[in-house]
Formats: sequence, C-alpha cells, structure tokens
Amino acid sequence: MKFVIANWKMNLSVNESMALAETYLKFFKETPAEIVVCPSFTSLPFVGKILNDSQISTGGQDVFWERQGAYTGEISTRDLVDLGAGYVILGHSERRFNGEEDWMINRKVIAALSEEPLCPIICVGETEEDQKEDRREAVIAKQMEEALDGVSLALDRNIIIAYEPVWAIGSGITPSLDDIEYTHQMIRILLRKQLGSRSDKACAVVYGGSVNEKTARKIADLECVDGFLVGGASLEAKEFYRIAQTVLE
Ligand code: PGA
Repeated sequence: MKFVIANWKMNLSVNESMALAETYLKFFKETPAEIVVCPSFTSLPFVGKILNDSQISTGGQDVFWERQGAYTGEISTRDLVDLGAGYVILGHSERRFNGEEDWMINRKVIAALSEEPLCPIICVGETEEDQKEDRREAVIAKQMEEALDGVSLALDRNIIIAYEPVWAIGSGITPSLDDIEYTHQMIRILLRKQLGSRSDKACAVVYGGSVNEKTARKIADLECVDGFLVGGASLEAKEFYRIAQTVLE
C-alpha cells in the first residue's frame, strides 16, 4: 500500500480548511493509494465530515499520551478516533523544536497503537547540523530506537515512518535519490531489528521534505519509497493530486 499524506500544519483557518477539503473531493474521486489529510485539531471535525464518504482518510498532527484526565490543552487518542481520524503524525520536527523529546514520542506511539484504528506516522530525520557532522545514521537510529521502544506489532496494526530531513522541510531542497534510497533502506533494517520481519509488510516508509510535483516524480520511482508526507504543496489541491499520481504511475 502506498500512502500520500497531507500535513496542513497551522496554515489554514477552519473555513479555509473546509474549502480545501471540498476541492480535494473534486480531484480524488477514485484512488488506489491511501490519501490522508491532517488538518489542525480545530478543523478536523469539519474536514472529517466533508471527507466522510470519500476515499480520503483523516489524521491528527499530534496527540497526547494519556487517554483522559486533567491535562489542560491536550488532545486524546479518543478525541481523534471519535472524529473519525485513522492516523496521527508523531514527532514532527516542528514539534521536536518545541521541546518534544524521543521518550514523549514513544509514549504517544504506544498510546496511538492502543487506540484502534489509529496508525502512527512517526517522523524521523537529521538536522542540517547533523548532516554536516555526518551524524545522519546515528540520529535516525536513536530516534527510531526510542520511538519504538517496547512496541510490538499486533497482527492488524500498521506503522508509518516518515523520513523527513529537517533541512529539506520547506526549503525547496531535497536529498539526492541515492541518499533517500540509502536512508529508507537503513530505516527498513532498523524496523526489522526492532519489530521483526512482520514489519516488512506492516510498516511503510514514506519520504517528506519539499515534495512537490517536480521532486515527487523521481523519488516515487524508488522502490523503497512507499509514498510521501507533503506540507506546503498539499495546500494546493491540484498539485497534491499530481503528487499522488506520481506514486501510482
Ligand atoms: P514541506 O513539509 O513539504 O513543506 O517541506 C513537509 C513536512 O513538514 O511534513
């Protein structure tokens, strides 16, 4: 299964999100890939309603690890599932910059996997500094080890890993195809080591960071790429649709 995931971040108001969801509907009439839209929490109920009877799924951009209780301002896995979300992005670098640490991401991964049918989309990737100091492998290995600590793959649950080099996000620059291939293969090996050979089928590894119509085409041709996590280019329905087409060609 290929995944094309839109991360709308905090770019749109509720009304703008609803309008974009309506436009998505016009493009995505039939699609063999899994299309996932992650709007802001406040837009999620409205976008969810619009996409309800379509082939497009929805997801949250984060979640808290406790299921309920006195946690002011947090959003629970129950909230997401009640709103029809099937996915949740965890450990995005924009959250890591806000103080999110690997142990927190681990608790969120466990919480998401405990709440049917939520599928975690776990973001990993090196910063520009890591890249300069040749730490990419070590950084990603640590992020994965900690995020997946104590996680076991139940028979019917899936996990998506999004490889997002932080320096590629919103910058218009993407790694070379060789680098993407190398890193995705490394992530596959780490998944096997941590979750066993069932991870080959139960896990997907998608690429994120300056994916647009142009960059997507070549990256999508790589066998080890199971789809995309798209930020900026997902705010334009036609462009996002074209990116999805590259995955299917
Ligand atoms: P971008 O963002 O496509 O705008 O680079 C990707 C992301 O942050 O997930």
